Amino acid sequence: MRNITVIGSGTMGNGIAHVFAQNGFITTLLDINQAALDKAIVTIGKNLDRQVSKGTLTETEKTETLGRLSTSTDLKTAVANADLVVEAATEQVAIKTQLFADLDAAAPAHCVLATNTSSISITLLAASTKRPAQVIGMHFMNPVPVMKLVEVIRGYATSQAVTDTIMDLSKMLGKTPVEVNDYPGFVSNRILMPMINEAIQTLFEGVAGVTEIDTVMKLGMAHPMGPLQLADFIGLDVCHSILHVLHDGFGNPKYYPCPLLTNMVRAGHKGVKSGKGFYDYSHGGKELIVANEFVK
Ligand SMILES: NC(=O)c1ccc[n+]([C@@H]2O[C@H](COP(=O)([O-])OP(=O)(O)OC[C@H]3O[C@@H](n4cnc5c(N)ncnc54)[C@H](O)[C@@H]3O)[C@@H](O)[C@H]2O)c1
Repeated sequence: MRNITVIGSGTMGNGIAHVFAQNGFITTLLDINQAALDKAIVTIGKNLDRQVSKGTLTETEKTETLGRLSTSTDLKTAVANADLVVEAATEQVAIKTQLFADLDAAAPAHCVLATNTSSISITLLAASTKRPAQVIGMHFMNPVPVMKLVEVIRGYATSQAVTDTIMDLSKMLGKTPVEVNDYPGFVSNRILMPMINEAIQTLFEGVAGVTEIDTVMKLGMAHPMGPLQLADFIGLDVCHSILHVLHDGFGNPKYYPCPLLTNMVRAGHKGVKSGKGFYDYSHGGKELIVANEFVK
């Protein structure tokens, strides 16, 4: 594999493009929004600068990385020579099923179509194409250049050869791939989201406050970040929608989102991205300030 096209240049897309370009792949970053592409190139530049100042990358390697990276708003030309497409567009079923049908029509026959989805069925996306054996989940974690894991998700029809290729490719990016099967939440979110939901339920029932819950999990379980802070980082709307995917997929009430989470999402308190969740980020987020409604 040599030519990689990344679809969607938001939080994840820019990190995925960064990692491929840094590791020698000719990388095209595509978005429907030119402003998002411009922002992604600035972000990648800043992140490469940080690596140079830390001494983990040379100035020459930075220049070479940027030289392997190009942007596009035209899907047909962006995937015309692609060996692999990694789709990291907005997490909506309608957007992704349409994209997979379009990618299938435009990409060369040998091209593997991967998705970075957090929760949408790989098997469902594969069914929008005529190449379901070549559709696979490649679930990077945020921030992509830093986080080691790639959860490689085999759809119902994904071939062994394609799975092996993506496992090997992930290693070439310096990542540790883990192979899992395509069931709701895969492994990562199936385990993480119930923990976050239970932390919110614990707060909702008044068992303990925001700081106390996060401190128990940080100091007691050696988690680098408490579950409520992590939920703010992921986005409370994202957590809410993944819990619905788990609930719909398994039909088990234990996955139903806590009413407090639902209320916060309805009120627009989505965590870091909206400036407020369990913590208040309006002061820049450098220090952890519990949101005023949770101050005892
Ligand atoms: N943010 C995270 O922490 C995280 C972690 C793991 C996986 N994911 C998954 O990665 C994917 C992207 O998430 P994100 O947080 O980067 O989203 P984001 O909102 O930051 O970026 C999405 C980008 O996709 C673009 N887009 C929308 N429709 C498109 C289309 N048809 N063609 C091309 N581009 C299109 C948007 O313009 C936007 O720039 C989602 O599937 C999400 O579930 C996110």
